[in-house]
Amino acid sequence: MSAEPTPAEPVSVVVIGASGDLARKKIVPALFALYSQGFLPDSFRLFGFARSSFSHDQFRAALAQHLTCRYVPESDCAQKTRMFLERCFYCSGAYDSKDAFLDLFQLMQNQEPGSETNRMFYLATPPSVFTDAARALGNTGFVQCDAERPWSRLVVEKPFGRDRDSSDRLACELARVFSEEQTYRIDHYLGKEAVQNLMALRFANQVFEPVWNRNFIERVHIDWREDIGIEGRSGYYDRYGILRDVVQNHLLQVLALIAMDRPDGPGARLARQAKLDMLRRIPPPTLDAVRLGQYAAGSFQGRAHPGYRDEEGVPADSRTPTYAAVSLSLDHDRWRGVPFLITAGKALNRRATEVRIRFRPVSGALFDSKGDLPPNELILRIQPDEAIHLKVVNKQPGLTMKLVETNLDLKYHVAFADQIPDAYERLLLDVIQGEKSLFIHADALAVAWDIFTPVLHEIERQGIDPFPYPFGADTPEAGQGLGVRV
Ligand code: BG6
Repeated sequence: MSAEPTPAEPVSVVVIGASGDLARKKIVPALFALYSQGFLPDSFRLFGFARSSFSHDQFRAALAQHLTCRYVPESDCAQKTRMFLERCFYCSGAYDSKDAFLDLFQLMQNQEPGSETNRMFYLATPPSVFTDAARALGNTGFVQCDAERPWSRLVVEKPFGRDRDSSDRLACELARVFSEEQTYRIDHYLGKEAVQNLMALRFANQVFEPVWNRNFIERVHIDWREDIGIEGRSGYYDRYGILRDVVQNHLLQVLALIAMDRPDGPGARLARQAKLDMLRRIPPPTLDAVRLGQYAAGSFQGRAHPGYRDEEGVPADSRTPTYAAVSLSLDHDRWRGVPFLITAGKALNRRATEVRIRFRPVSGALFDSKGDLPPNELILRIQPDEAIHLKVVNKQPGLTMKLVETNLDLKYHVAFADQIPDAYERLLLDVIQGEKSLFIHADALAVAWDIFTPVLHEIERQGIDPFPYPFGADTPEAGQGLGVRV
């Protein structure tokens, strides 16, 4: 992302599936944030497309509910919001209808400043209509088929299939309309500030790289938890489950950034290559290395919550896991013997994503301590309240040599006055600027599926029943045996 706003060339963003939550709560607010900071040109236009029938004004009113002026002084908020909404238009139609997309293109041509407008097509629909929508778009003949100017780019978000085969089929369908160069696969975790910082922390400091290996690190634990259930998303969730929803993508990407070797030089291509090389060193886990759980009814924060199987739309005998613990071993000299543990769960006791890197213990003999001293631990808190903590052993001030464990803390809200941008702001600006380092390339997607497809199929083949855990649990028992603290 450029440090300074640069008025870009004319650009339109076409959101297909514009009446859904992703569009209204994430994509459009992020575009508004970019617009209000001057990252989008005056000629910017947003076109929403979906099945429901709305007038332009009804569409604008629905968008307005989720716009907040994070970057605009209160006094200018109403005016900026009005200016942004004036640039938003809506067209309704079926996702598989060439005629409906021709209507959309007609509307675009009427509202765009000229024929040289770049176009970003954002597929924010349910995955079941990805292929139909892409085909219908392609059939109109309006999508530029190369990366030249004015460009047409496709933005698409997971789920990219349910396994390697279905992902390949989807990739082939999309490739009929958009080349790999034009395709931007979003994994929004890569747009998070603290995830982007992983490369800086590791490679812009001298102190971490020399100890970033099996000689010093005992284990790495990536822990993801949410304190909410599936929130009405049973149609999607019951087909995918926790491994496909967050582990195979978001958390595997974080793991790759922690584990990868130093890229051979600057630039998106080499960073992507370094990540891919490390992903290729991750053997698929066997069933022994995976534990699954599913939330049951529980009382949490003073309220009774239903279990997963009681959620509307979930079959009463569903085996879809909402919690998983997976232990991965990397086939790489740097990491041989170091377990990389990923734990992820919905309906746990809090919302947090953290990476905990535990160093090997130091003997306490020099200090007359029995056994080892508490090991150093580096904790990278990705959200909420981004922070870096390093647990160190320190002398307790006083007349004796008493050692205590203490924390070195870097809290973002204390250290940095700047607003932390939402992941989508960063990623959408990157699409406009043609910067691909934070997007998932087809080869990385294929490798990620190769890691998880065998165990996903095995879980389904054996009909593994997930362990129940109460809504609001701290550490589900399901994690036992893999070294997850209980
Ligand atoms: C999405 C998953 O990709 O990420 C959701 O589908 C999950 O189930 C969400 O809740 C978490 O994103 P964030 O940015 O809120 O951590």
